[in-house]
Amino acid sequence: MTGIKEKSILIEQRGAVALLTLNRAKALNAINDSIRHGLSEALRNVDEDPAVGAIVIVGAGERGFSVGADIKEIRSHDSPIATRRRLIPTSWIEVLDSTRKPVIAAIHGFCLGGGMELALACDLRVVAIGSEFALPETTLGLIPGGGGTQRLPRLIGLSRALDLLLTGERIDADEAFRIGIANRLAESSSEALAEALRIAEVLSTRPRAAISYVKEAARAGLDMDLASGLKLEKSLFALLTSSPDRAEAAAAFRDKRKPIFTGA
Ligand code: CAA
Repeated sequence: MTGIKEKSILIEQRGAVALLTLNRAKALNAINDSIRHGLSEALRNVDEDPAVGAIVIVGAGERGFSVGADIKEIRSHDSPIATRRRLIPTSWIEVLDSTRKPVIAAIHGFCLGGGMELALACDLRVVAIGSEFALPETTLGLIPGGGGTQRLPRLIGLSRALDLLLTGERIDADEAFRIGIANRLAESSSEALAEALRIAEVLSTRPRAAISYVKEAARAGLDMDLASGLKLEKSLFALLTSSPDRAEAAAAFRDKRKPIFTGA
């Protein structure tokens, strides 16, 4: 899989980590149909690949993660039905939501509009100082169409989210960290990528089912009442109690050795 170019997405395997690069540096990684299709397909492929335990998404070039939807490609003349037909099968949003492996965004520079929505859909965000975030869709007569109105309030609360959604104003990396958009800050783009890869590498060595179940429980639980969420957690926990990886973890602890997980 190393070095294969898939439309506007580069896929590179580094150990058990798949690094997906949005590869339109000249257009600041604006999301066109090619990126939309390529990212969905790449995510599906690496999620199915047993050699991959975690995924990192990064933007090519010095200037940013992604400036969002390709404004030059927004086709106002398309009928609503044509637009729906074009966008729905390629939505990375649904693909990201159903990805079982952890996905980490390594962010630098501009992270705007659909680019920010892509970052919000990832599980973790490592952000380089100098990054700028905004959801400027209302200035274009739109609203976020990639999950921004739903994910941002869930992530940082309604009040702060509405501030960003209504004003479209940009915030810097420090503010993104302060309000909970960034999980971690890094000094530079290369350090953000290195840190994202380091976290992904750690996660890829963990028992695969436990990592995917914790993600499923936390994400699905957000849309449930507490009792239902606890029930889901209990059922996933019960499944893991009889897993070989769980037995191996306990045996390795007893034997004072490193566990060897098989993903089973
Ligand atoms: N779509 C397509 N191309 C874009 C783009 C975008 N969103 N943003 C930048 N580019 C292109 C520019 O057209 C330019 O290309 P050319 O060299 O061929 O002219 C190149 O990237 C560099 O951009 P600038 O020359 O504008 O660079 P700058 O430093 O002066 O400004 C910027 C950078 C502030 C990011 C500015 O380009 C900008 O404001 N871009 C628009 C950002 C935006 O509004 N994003 C939201 C899109 S809507 C969306 O995402 C909604 C959704 O979910 C559907």
